[in-house]
Amino acid sequence: MRTPLIAGNWKMHLNLTEAAELAAAVARVAEACPDREVMIAPPFTSLARVREVCGERLILAGQNVCWEEKGAFTGEIAPPMLRELGCRMVIIGHSERRHVFGEDDQMINRRLRGAMAHGLVPILCIGETLEERDAGRTMEVLERQVRQGLDQVGLEDPARLVIAYEPVWAIGTGKTATTAQAQEAHEFVRGLLADTGEKNIAEGTRILYGGSVNAANVDDIMAQADVDGALVGGASLSAETFERIIRFA
Ligand code: 13P
Repeated sequence: MRTPLIAGNWKMHLNLTEAAELAAAVARVAEACPDREVMIAPPFTSLARVREVCGERLILAGQNVCWEEKGAFTGEIAPPMLRELGCRMVIIGHSERRHVFGEDDQMINRRLRGAMAHGLVPILCIGETLEERDAGRTMEVLERQVRQGLDQVGLEDPARLVIAYEPVWAIGTGKTATTAQAQEAHEFVRGLLADTGEKNIAEGTRILYGGSVNAANVDDIMAQADVDGALVGGASLSAETFERIIRFA
């Protein structure tokens, strides 16, 4: 019942020409795989160009979004601006936003609510650091990030939210969580969603895994019961590799 979602986070990579070429290639794969959803999140500056080649099926997303719809917020991008560029989704609370740029759970919650208020589907990113995992605090951290990230959010339709579990120690390191570690975290997060009282929310919300997903490990990761997709960084920058990931078994 949960349509798999394979999402590419391009981070701060590719010039306009490279972005358009890669997006066009990914769009062709998305058209050829109607049983799964495919998303890309290019840098803001490439969105207008990429949109021209996206077609109907490839979902376009922002990498972050402000909570206000306009105003004096230098360096930020407003939800209506993303909508105007054809974005349907937006990544919120990515590990790099949390750990490099100091975004906290309160700010992430504001961004998420702002996105939802404007009809963007947020991908709320959560995940523990290695230090937190080693200290046995993984579930506590995930619980805090989910509860605070979703504070004051009325969840009615599971299609309006995506969660991505990305252990910080697995991002860009070539180290993936074991399939058991991923499944354990995903099951736990689904349990937190069940606490909202709405059975359909827990059952219907897609939870993606992210952190060094590649062509060689995607099949095992996607085989886990509570893994509904992947949020892919480095491996989404190659059309060939990303195609293999989209076509996971
Ligand atoms: P990598 O796939 O490069 O580890 O990045 C994961 C990520 O941060 C996706 O958002």
